[in-house]
Amino acid sequence: MIFSSGENACFLLIPPRDSSKGTGLSRSADTRGSPMIRLCKRAVKYMLRRTLFRHDLAHCGSLANCEYDFLRELVGRANQLPGDFVEIGTLFGSTAQRLAAWKAPGKKVIAVDQFSWNPWVLSPAEHERITANNLYYLTTHNHLEMVKADKNDFYRRSFAVPPALAFLDAVHTYEETRRDILWARQAGVGIICGHDYDHPGVVRAVAGFGGPEQVVGSVWVLQARSAQKVA
Ligand SMILES: C[S@@+](CC[C@H](N)C(=O)[O-])C[C@H]1O[C@@H](n2cnc3c(N)ncnc32)[C@H](O)[C@@H]1O
Repeated sequence: MIFSSGENACFLLIPPRDSSKGTGLSRSADTRGSPMIRLCKRAVKYMLRRTLFRHDLAHCGSLANCEYDFLRELVGRANQLPGDFVEIGTLFGSTAQRLAAWKAPGKKVIAVDQFSWNPWVLSPAEHERITANNLYYLTTHNHLEMVKADKNDFYRRSFAVPPALAFLDAVHTYEETRRDILWARQAGVGIICGHDYDHPGVVRAVAGFGGPEQVVGSVWVLQARSAQKVA
């Protein structure tokens, strides 16, 4: 059982067998075992979250206000560059909404998620529907493209114009964060940033690319390409 407290923290009650998958918890856990076992696990998680481990479900998994202020600054910088915005790990769209609100006209947010984890113990299908509802206005008006995919499949996409900014916030292991940053570097992303710099895997992966230029809360932005060497 993993539990952490704090303004921006989440907890996972039943870790996946392959713990290297980080927040890719729910799909592997939920699709394993008989329906009765899955139901019992969900019931226990639900009861614990509503009693012993109460936390702010509206906030969990997203950013604190000071982190949003910093992200807004980064978006301001990225608005001076060509290309769209990419968010890896959309959850319910809290950050995607803000990226869309702050982006320059003509740009688009590409929000990628495979709906494998959420703090509300929703099924992947429920998670996807809620996120799609939250982002409906933006998708209808072409401000945002929702991509339902494993991020590593999305990374095969080619871009006519490299993204101006990528916000990396899906899986916080060293291996997956390194993979995210490598993709962003190879795709020529202008500003590479992400969340959860309080995870050791994230710190190590970012260090492998020269370290952060700045960290606010747990939002990090990578040093400019000229200042980094790939580990
Ligand atoms: C911490 S939440 C993202 C929070 C979001 N960026 C925000 O600020 O509101 C992590 C998200 O990453 C998604 N995710 C986990 N592994 C993924 C993968 N391999 N590919 C795509 N999405 C993934 C989960 O479904 C979850 O919605």
